[in-house]
Amino acid sequence: MKFFIDTADVAEIRDLAATGLVDGVTTNPSLIAKTGRDFFEVLGEICGLVDGPVSAEVAATDAETIVAEGRALAAVAPNVVVKTPLTPDGLKACRTLTEEGTPVNVTLCFSAAQALLAAKAGAAYISPFIGRLDDIGADGMQLVHDITELYGAQPEIETQVLVASVRHTMHVVDAAKMGADVATLPPKVLRGMFDHPLTDKGLEAFLADWRKTGQSILSGTAKGRAAE
Ligand code: E4P
Repeated sequence: MKFFIDTADVAEIRDLAATGLVDGVTTNPSLIAKTGRDFFEVLGEICGLVDGPVSAEVAATDAETIVAEGRALAAVAPNVVVKTPLTPDGLKACRTLTEEGTPVNVTLCFSAAQALLAAKAGAAYISPFIGRLDDIGADGMQLVHDITELYGAQPEIETQVLVASVRHTMHVVDAAKMGADVATLPPKVLRGMFDHPLTDKGLEAFLADWRKTGQSILSGTAKGRAAE
């Protein structure tokens, strides 16, 4: 499973990209607004920080303007993926941009039927928003299950399932088990995946015991050197 980072915070992206675990980035208008910065400037910087796909969302709602905005965003860098909404106009624009060679991430997907339409429109990615479904008492993971099953049953579909609106570690683990291609993670969720109290406790005990030996791995020991 690929991990994308769901943020427009350049410092966060730089920091997490250094882990070697980040395959791409997703942004949306809310995340861009949070930075308080110029969209094109931020997008250019993000695209320079990661080799993988960087999703940038259009703000128009009619197909013609969505296509125009998509072209402008795609011109920023070769790794830009244009995000279009799951509406009739959004899918019409998805078809046009895809035919022009620009990959499209169809966003705001809340049903398997919508995911089927996005695949038909040639989307490179479909983004089911699982956390927002959980928020209203629905089952976000069930949607991921339905889409992976549906896409799996239709061999001609090449659209990748990009699990979005991820809230916690188990969303990621469950989505991976279901065969989703990508999960886009808020930085806090990615960092949280490292955590386990037994890892911290175990490491502390190993280091305490190691200190008692008085040895240093890099400099070697007197005993070790004598044996050489
Ligand atoms: C990513 O592409 C989505 O825009 C994002 O995951 C939405 O997450 P939210 O529901 O936490 O805003």
